[in-house]
Amino acid sequence: VSDDEQFGDFMGSVPRPMIVVTVAAGDTRAGCMVGFHSQSSIDPPQYAVWLSKANRTFRIAAFADTFAVHFLDAANRPLAELFGGVTGDEDDKFAHCAWHDGPGGVPLLDDCENRITMRRVAMHDAGGDHACFVLEPLAVETGSSFSALASTELGDIEAGHAAEERQRPR
Ligand SMILES: Cc1cc2nc3c(=O)[nH]c(=O)nc-3n(C[C@H](O)[C@H](O)[C@H](O)COP(=O)(O)O)c2cc1C
Repeated sequence: VSDDEQFGDFMGSVPRPMIVVTVAAGDTRAGCMVGFHSQSSIDPPQYAVWLSKANRTFRIAAFADTFAVHFLDAANRPLAELFGGVTGDEDDKFAHCAWHDGPGGVPLLDDCENRITMRRVAMHDAGGDHACFVLEPLAVETGSSFSALASTELGDIEAGHAAEERQRPR
């Protein structure tokens, strides 16, 4: 077993809350499920999300100012399957769920009460297959109760978009 495999297996065993990130650039919308994310500053409040460079969401996010981060609840499994298991390159995810326009046209998912609308302040590329978008909150919406849907409770959802192949030898 290589260290890379051990790293992947161990990280896969660590529970993390799952989110759906949505973006809009002009009239074009995109969104995907994301496990790589965290608050990254207290003052000013900042939040970081890492998007796979292979995803359609990354390509639209590159031109987007406004992002919506939806924290999935245990009842949001259908959204996890739609936004994690389907790529917008092949199907319009927004034709299969309820949503409405938020600030800057960013789509807000009606079935997800806990969400933060944010503006992008930076993008970092450390050479990996994901790039980091640093966001600052514009509006915070919370529902009555919230039980996070954890990565370890998802079962088998095959990512709708395969990750990029590694381009350089190590
Ligand atoms: C458990 C799980 C975790 C994921 N984590 C991320 C992530 O952190 N960042 C990301 O960009 N994609 C992540 N994905 C993959 C995307 O959600 C998936 O490939 C999606 O279909 C991409 O859609 P798009 O091409 O429309 O952007 C994850 C998928 C799964 C199943």
